[in-house]
Amino acid sequence: MTDVSSKGPAPGDDRAVLTNRQGHPVYDNQNQRTVGARGPATLENYQFLEKISHFDRERIPERVVHARGALSYGYFESYGTWGDEPIGQYTRAKLFAEQGKRTDVAVRFSSVIGGRDSSECARDPRGFAVKFYTEDGNWDLVGNNLAVFFIRDAIKFPDVIHALKPDPVTFRQEPNRIFDFMSQTPESMHMLMNLFSPRGIPSDYRHMQGFGVNTYKWLNDQGESVLVKYHWIPTQGVRSMTEEDAANVQAHELGHATKDLYEAIENGDYPEWELRVQMMADGEHPELDFDPLDDTKTWPENDFPAKPVGRMVLDRNVVNQFAENEQIAFGTGVLVDGLDFSDDKMLVGRTFSYSDTQRYRVGPNYLQLPVNQAKNARVATNQRDGQMEYYVDHVPGTNPHVNYEPSIHGGLREAQYPQHDEQGPVIEGRLTRKRIPLTQDYKQAGQRYLLSEDWERDDLVANFVTLLGQCERDVQERMVWHFFMVEDELGSRVGEGLGIKASDVAHLEPLESQTLSDEDQQRLANLG
Ligand code: HEM
Repeated sequence: MTDVSSKGPAPGDDRAVLTNRQGHPVYDNQNQRTVGARGPATLENYQFLEKISHFDRERIPERVVHARGALSYGYFESYGTWGDEPIGQYTRAKLFAEQGKRTDVAVRFSSVIGGRDSSECARDPRGFAVKFYTEDGNWDLVGNNLAVFFIRDAIKFPDVIHALKPDPVTFRQEPNRIFDFMSQTPESMHMLMNLFSPRGIPSDYRHMQGFGVNTYKWLNDQGESVLVKYHWIPTQGVRSMTEEDAANVQAHELGHATKDLYEAIENGDYPEWELRVQMMADGEHPELDFDPLDDTKTWPENDFPAKPVGRMVLDRNVVNQFAENEQIAFGTGVLVDGLDFSDDKMLVGRTFSYSDTQRYRVGPNYLQLPVNQAKNARVATNQRDGQMEYYVDHVPGTNPHVNYEPSIHGGLREAQYPQHDEQGPVIEGRLTRKRIPLTQDYKQAGQRYLLSEDWERDDLVANFVTLLGQCERDVQERMVWHFFMVEDELGSRVGEGLGIKASDVAHLEPLESQTLSDEDQQRLANLG
């Protein structure tokens, strides 16, 4: 017989009583209900079943990329000007309009390839995603710490990620798979120059830059558009780790970057970034030697200065990692009036992918969760029902029977369209599947190499040699061929580390997927 007299609160114990989710008090949290002390158990044991079956469902699918991340909150403050000019001259987005205007933000930093509990010391791009809770609804700027990307067309994204993720058979991240793909994807050279340099392992999240990477547009009141690129510059400075530094940190701690960010904010040492914007006239740019809609390219800052437009401060940590960090949902389609997409072929693909995965990963009503709500704007939709809906976006005073539009019985009406609907240059063309004409895969990669300091070049070469050393000969030779096309010195140095000379790779033809520039042709001729 249970001795009930020994249970219940001790005198003076004023702690809250444990309940189940139905609000029933829990009398015994140690023993399930059984026939006799030694069992068997009974199936009507609601308290036990609720507890264990909720536990069985604690995990949602982790993000297919950027699974490990850290979230914090703060504000963005506009400078009101782009250089000497009012920002309003270029964009009607209200968050930029006045000097000193503040907008709440949530920022999630992440690594890309590893799972939810992977090491934060990996050589891997870092995500830098910012959600601005503006009065016109949310704006997400979903960027990375490196200014360019591996590919320029969204149709290649599953391939590049599969190559970078663990082998489906051995479950090891295999250099041979990575460089097999990259060696057949010449537009990845610029990104590889970044990723395998010291910048490929940021020391933590507070000391890294952020880049929008893709090209966006700004729109003003007159309906005029410009192309823009976004850059976040940390006031704390930029710091990176060598392989050796990273190995030392990783030996003691897998989540050092999350810890660093959390502790800095708890201690009142609030990290800050400046947002800078590069601008270019909307339209084609035949005078440039790269395509401004190509995310494997940067825009030279001498010609397109990155001008400061505001600053962001992070001053608050999450309270619940799961509800906030795990369930927050960013997407490139989440723009406000005055900001727009460009025709960048990565950007359009990304814009589909984010909300698609979030409807699967979090659920169809993911935008009702507090961290995803447009909390500073009014939300009034005719969307109804679906799993886990817990309120109706109904506006008091409108007819609750009308969840459709149009109606003569009240309900919601369409907004007045901003004055200038049509914008940007006129575009004409046949439906086709073609790569952009101006690919220029090597030039900026070569410039990047030449601009590096000696120790950075040493690190880059050592990193390539170490990983390519684990690859098959064919893959090594094609990569060395690309490196000669990027810059002679790089080809020679990596080749030397692998025992491959220029004459060993001179017979290789350009890939079918390549269009060589005159300069590239010259390099190819020199190789022979
Ligand atoms: C996360 C797709 C390129 C930055 C994700 C997720 C998907 C995705 C499916 C997971 C989202 C979620 O579960 O909530 C794609 C596709 C791309 C692409 C299809 C190319 C076509 C890029 C590029 C960048 C980027 C170029 C950098 C500019 C991020 C970031 C996250 C993310 C920062 C994490 C967001 C968070 O913290 O929740 N991406 N991505 N992605 N992506 Fe991409």
